[in-house]
Amino acid sequence: MRAVILVGGLGTRLRPLTYTSPKQLLPVLDVPMIERKIAQLVAQGVDDIVFSMGYRPDTFLEAFPGDVCAGAKLTYVVEKTPLGTAGAIAFAAREAGINETFLAMNGDTLTDLDVNALLAMHKVSGAEGTITLTPVDDPSRFGVVPTEDDGRVIAFIEKPPRDEAPTNLINAGTYVLEPSFVDRVPEGREVSIEREIFPAVVADKALFAGHFDRYWLDIGTPEAYLQGNLDAIDSDLGGGNFLGAGVSVHGNTTIHRSIVGHGSSISAGATLRECVLLPGVVVEEGAVIERSIVGEFSRVGAGARLSDLTVVGGNLTVAALATLNAEKVSPAGI
Ligand code: GTP
Repeated sequence: MRAVILVGGLGTRLRPLTYTSPKQLLPVLDVPMIERKIAQLVAQGVDDIVFSMGYRPDTFLEAFPGDVCAGAKLTYVVEKTPLGTAGAIAFAAREAGINETFLAMNGDTLTDLDVNALLAMHKVSGAEGTITLTPVDDPSRFGVVPTEDDGRVIAFIEKPPRDEAPTNLINAGTYVLEPSFVDRVPEGREVSIEREIFPAVVADKALFAGHFDRYWLDIGTPEAYLQGNLDAIDSDLGGGNFLGAGVSVHGNTTIHRSIVGHGSSISAGATLRECVLLPGVVVEEGAVIERSIVGEFSRVGAGARLSDLTVVGGNLTVAALATLNAEKVSPAGI
């Protein structure tokens, strides 16, 4: 079984972190999130991966020398212009010569989905496409997907008012698709899977969906990225802190439920609470970082205070004694 993974988006909501790294290469407990995702696929027997790329393809080539990631073989397909979610899947499938049932998925979700259960459902229904659903508290910000009892999709309803939504289940971004699905996608232009292609398959009564009640998180925003790291501390380590290789921590620091990327250095008197530091970050004396994210190789000056989802991009310096509350610090000139 081959899997197309979409990794080509700009990741605008995660700027400034995504100026230096595509979203899928941002680490979760020091491992690129896409590598965690692929490791889970490999554990379930899916080890032939096609990356559908657009933004910064060079960074993926550097991250996975030998075109291998977590034991999976990687094939790269690069778009000249963004083709949108359906356009990208179809372009990758055509370029990679996929001509049998395949998996396709967004590259920016963390999930422990059982792909074999999804494949089994697809086989039983004989669908052209089978998609996964996940519940959300407030469906009014998403496209919701009501189904018949047997899983056949009735409609895609974009952003329904909360009290009118027929279900709180939304598209979770992992699909099993037949080659005929690819044939539906026009070539050479941007095509959205949710707005254009899924509704056409629904009209032909050929789209099914399943809710598998597993961990699922779209890490597309700073808040979700922080949450994904905290969830991983809880699930992988049973709580506590994650300190990467070669981290130096000097005396008298307070570190609570935080992730410190490899090679970082925390000076005396610093406080870290529920934050993510990417690799190579330097935190100077007495700085306080709470519920915030600091990009790779950045420096937080002595006595600075970062809080409330402040996000500092990579290779930057926060001045000593600066106070940043819910701010984004980007490279100069952007
Ligand atoms: P924002 O700019 O923050 O909205 O993020 P995004 O567009 O990078 O990601 P979004 O959540 O909208 O897309 C879901 C997945 O599809 C992500 O893994 C993206 O990298 C990927 N993606 C989005 N658009 C494209 C595209 O045009 N081409 C390719 N190859 N991948 C895409």
